[in-house]
Amino acid sequence: MIRLGYVSVANPMVTAMEMKSIIAVSAENNKACEVTGVLLYNGITFLQVLEGKKENVKSLYQKIAIDERHSAITTIFREDIEARIFSEWSMKLKIVASSAEALPDWIEEIEDVVAEFPPIPPSNLKSVLTSYDTVRA
Ligand SMILES: Cc1cc2nc3c(=O)[nH]c(=O)nc-3n(C[C@H](O)[C@H](O)[C@H](O)COP(=O)(O)O)c2cc1C
Repeated sequence: MIRLGYVSVANPMVTAMEMKSIIAVSAENNKACEVTGVLLYNGITFLQVLEGKKENVKSLYQKIAIDERHSAITTIFREDIEARIFSEWSMKLKIVASSAEALPDWIEEIEDVVAEFPPIPPSNLKSVLTSYDTVRA
């Protein structure tokens, strides 16, 4: 299996409805292809982690990469793994407040990015996830 992470810039037209539909579609598709992970959104950028069989992650990533609801998709890591970290999440959305004025009105919930995360051993992945709320687009 592999774990792949990327960052991208959300299309400013992305709405709450869109985010809900992305997550609903993802939960269903990802269950079918046994991909797990997390999608972080701060109103400006996305950071997504995808875990699963190499072929499945690769073909899903190709599909996601041409989605017009985001751009500037940049792979930040890609590693072989023995075990999943997000095994319970077919795709979990976490909204993070990084830059209060840039957050769309509909984002009410402000969460600590790693609160309720499964345990992540000290690693680049952990640093990337915990530093996400300080990243500015
Ligand atoms: C930031 C972002 C993350 C996405 N993550 C996923 C995902 O994890 N799984 C998924 O199936 N689709 C995801 N999508 C949606 C896909 O780009 C695509 O619209 C969807 O998979 C199409 O599903 P369908 O082939 O069933 O119509 C994501 C889109 C965006 C903008």
